[in-house]
Amino acid sequence: MRLLVTGAAGFIGTNYVRHVLAHHPDDRITAYDKLTYAGNPDNLKGLDADPRFSFVQGDICDAGLLEAVLPGHDAVVNFAAESHVDRSILQAGEFVRTNVLGTNTILDVARRLEIPRFLHVSTDETYGSIPSGSFRESDALTPSSPYSASKAGADLLAHAYWVTFRCPVVVTRSSNNFGPYQFPEKMIPLFITNILEDKPVPVYGDGLNVRDWIYVEDNCAALDLVLREGAPGSIYNIGAGDELTNLELTRRVLRLLGKPESLISHVTDRPGHDRRYSVDTTKVRALGWRPRWTFDAALAATVEWYRAHRGWWEPLRAGSARVIEQDLETPDAD
Ligand code: NAD
Ligand code: DAU
Repeated sequence: MRLLVTGAAGFIGTNYVRHVLAHHPDDRITAYDKLTYAGNPDNLKGLDADPRFSFVQGDICDAGLLEAVLPGHDAVVNFAAESHVDRSILQAGEFVRTNVLGTNTILDVARRLEIPRFLHVSTDETYGSIPSGSFRESDALTPSSPYSASKAGADLLAHAYWVTFRCPVVVTRSSNNFGPYQFPEKMIPLFITNILEDKPVPVYGDGLNVRDWIYVEDNCAALDLVLREGAPGSIYNIGAGDELTNLELTRRVLRLLGKPESLISHVTDRPGHDRRYSVDTTKVRALGWRPRWTFDAALAATVEWYRAHRGWWEPLRAGSARVIEQDLETPDAD
């Protein structure tokens, strides 16, 4: 297969490209990425030597460039997005532009070029919060943040291209990923890197919000299976079922790094903070997928990766330190 992978220089995209090249020797990949603050060419280091890999710097809102690059591909995997909830509270405009308009642009180009497969990577956040039980794919989308609302718009557009045009689109809704190459603004890499620098970790509110965690390698295997085996027009939840409160997770990271709980600092809560996420993964498991990693082994591997890759994350932290906390009082107007 020849794949065009958007957002390939971001966290999951990078891991996914490596997964495909390792598991499908005959596949070729065009990585397509705008290289925003979250897209890091270093993430793809070493891959340029592989003749199966090429990189194009481009925006998913740029129909002309997509029309030039996309012909000849068998599938699109659309990771490209603005992905951080806190940033969407400060500046929703870029989220709407990339996540909604950009997704529509690439769907439309793929439709016109009759690309045989389109995997749109959505998120469990589109469902909103659930006090008990787990969301199924047929449940309504009730997103809470500008990020998740923009992702819900994209998700619904992707599904509409199937219903209206019979474009062979599949949609995935994954739970919270963690692992190597995650930008150190998200909770797990932010906390690991703070702790490695003996800085406090900012736990929002009471810390009892629950997230359903999945190691990125397991997510990439599930995404790849859905791309190849998923039924066109279908939606697949992806999650490992490892639900933890933020406080419990923080304690485990502190224990792994041998640091005291006194580093926990409760800070002002995120506005609109969803209390709990949980997805029912019966459908993707019926395709034959199972998580291979236990949560604790994956967390330990992640901590080790950040410990061993200071040169990767130190330059990134400077631009992203909690600008968010200071600015939440005055969100901008767009
Ligand atoms: P990320 O922020 O690490 O990476 C996003 C990538 O998209 C970056 O490389 C960035 O440069 C690129 N990008 C942004 N705007 C673009 C544009 N207009 N055109 C082309 N490229 C653009 O995000 P991530 O965590 O790797 O998430 C990838 C996808 O998976 C997103 O769609 C996200 O909504 C979804 N998702 C993420 C998680 C998670 O836990 N991280 C869970 C479920 C779903
Ligand atoms: O559920 C999937 C989603 O997971 C993806 O769609 C998003 O792209 C991804 O960013 C992630 O969203 P969250 O908002 O759940 O992830 P984040 O790492 O920002 O926060 C995880 C939890 O930790 C959440 O309850 C908020 C809390 N948190 C986060 C940060 C950054 C803190 O307590 N302190 C922090 O500093």
